[in-house]
Amino acid sequence: MSEPQKPQDDLLPHDFDGIRERDRDPPLWFNVLFYGSLIWGVGYVLHYHWGPGKTGRDEWKSDMVALQETRAKNATGPLPEDQLRELSKNADRIARGKALYASAGCVACHGPEAAGSIGPNLTDKYWVYGSKMSEIVDVIAKGRTSPAGVMPGQTMAMDDITNLTIYLVSLNRAGAKPGKAIDPAREKENPITY
Ligand code: HEC
Repeated sequence: MSEPQKPQDDLLPHDFDGIRERDRDPPLWFNVLFYGSLIWGVGYVLHYHWGPGKTGRDEWKSDMVALQETRAKNATGPLPEDQLRELSKNADRIARGKALYASAGCVACHGPEAAGSIGPNLTDKYWVYGSKMSEIVDVIAKGRTSPAGVMPGQTMAMDDITNLTIYLVSLNRAGAKPGKAIDPAREKENPITY
């Protein structure tokens, strides 16, 4: 039996089979991490459970709502001509159609100004498939294949196709831009008068 050691500096008096413990403050890095994670944890709970933060469940719910909306839009068939014409000057829809025209790849075949490249000039009054809005919607939705090339049908929501059509009509109203020459054998004069 060895003599119990006298407590010295920060050694605590107890002894477990010769194992001694010192009484020291945890290092700064530990305290920063420890208290930091407590504060962060409180903030996390406040933000995600009572604040504006979205939990995984909330995100799932809003994704489901968005999915339902997209399905509802897709389920809607094309609007009748008179309703399309009523919407045709709606600035918000024109802006959304413009953004889609760039993002959906129309630019690649009809050019940035819609004045034509592979596909025909969409700003002039000459149309292959007619200038009624319902006719334009039909071309964009179903596509066309002819000796002039392939116009791919679009799988986007019908509401988006409506907005694209509204944008094209707004360009056409603004007047023809110089671009691809018309093909008189196929494109007939068909001005947009609405
Ligand atoms: C791969 C090339 C290509 C892409 C991409 C394309 N088009 Fe076309 N588009 C054509 C061609 C070629 C025609 C002419 C088809 C014909 O004459 O039979 C055409 C015709 C059209 C017409 C009918 C024009 C008329 O005179 O009747 C419209 C409207 C149209 N495109 C809109 C669009 C829109 C909107 C987009 C984007 C969503 C788009 N196109 C994307 C190639 C394309």
